[in-house]
Amino acid sequence: MKQRALGARTVSAIGLGGMPMSIEGRPAAARSIRTIHAALDAGVTLIDTADAYHRDAGEVGHNEELIARALREYGSGADDVLVATKGGHLRPGDGSWTRNGRPEYLKEAAKASAKRLGVEAIDLYQFHRPDPRVPYADSIGAIRDLLDEGVIVMAGISNANVEQIDQANEILGGRLVSVQNQFSPAFRSSEAELEHCANLGIAFLPWSPLGGIANAPELASRHSAFGEIANELGVSVYQVTLAWQLALAPVVIPIPGASRPESIRDSAGAADLELTADQIARLSATSPSE
Ligand SMILES: NC(=O)c1ccc[n+]([C@@H]2O[C@H](COP(=O)([O-])OP(=O)(O)OC[C@H]3O[C@@H](n4cnc5c(N)ncnc54)[C@H](OP(=O)(O)O)[C@@H]3O)[C@@H](O)[C@H]2O)c1
Repeated sequence: MKQRALGARTVSAIGLGGMPMSIEGRPAAARSIRTIHAALDAGVTLIDTADAYHRDAGEVGHNEELIARALREYGSGADDVLVATKGGHLRPGDGSWTRNGRPEYLKEAAKASAKRLGVEAIDLYQFHRPDPRVPYADSIGAIRDLLDEGVIVMAGISNANVEQIDQANEILGGRLVSVQNQFSPAFRSSEAELEHCANLGIAFLPWSPLGGIANAPELASRHSAFGEIANELGVSVYQVTLAWQLALAPVVIPIPGASRPESIRDSAGAADLELTADQIARLSATSPSE
């Protein structure tokens, strides 16, 4: 699998998103473990999770625990896997997502995540989403303290605009390594942040790169150019979509979600799919609604 830089580390160009294995509609744990193992077999060395990837109240960290278990069971072959988690979102158990960006909360949340992941220091900790009730600088200040205290090895942010990227990088003393924003054929509003990350050499992790759990099955029918190129190449529309994202900038590392081994096995193949300049231009020229 082709590799990309993530801070001081090198990871597979395609990561695995853990969310579908822990929220509403999740499969039984055994299938999730098989899915994570299929990702590792395919050469995936980046797994994205969050303490908020759970369904019911009282099961915070469901996805972190699942990933930790899968890595333990895989053995030494999983030693170089980078697990990126997040804090700052909560799920009260009624299907909603709430936020808490208070520094003292984030510090406790990160320590709890480290414990669940079974690590002394978290490889990459991402502030999940700005909390409008808390100054952004205060939340990022907590992330800086976590770095300085060695609770986390690298720091990232998510759902951030260009100003927040610059603000976070300044507060972190130039140590911001990643930005995770929504980006897919249907959602292009993060193009400015992608370009900004490319200029700064900061990794850009598109979330819901296939349009999200509910929309992924409709990718080819909703975005015909992606489906047409997939047919021309004899590969899945998912591979074409991920290969297109990889072609946009060397800092892009998509994290497609999966709850079936077949999905991540196929998605991992996108790392080796080379699109022509013409194909990339055709895909980039489509509008989010076609
Ligand atoms: N930072 C944030 O605020 C935020 C928000 C949302 C998501 N995320 C992260 O981004 C990750 C990806 O987003 P997402 O899971 O919402 O949506 P997604 O990656 O756009 O789509 C995931 C769905 O696509 C299907 N799929 C993936 N690869 C496939 C393939 N090759 N062939 C057929 N189907 C395929 C999977 O189906 P199966 O389930 O059947 O395998 C899965 O349910 C999440 O898992 C999470 O880690 C972050």
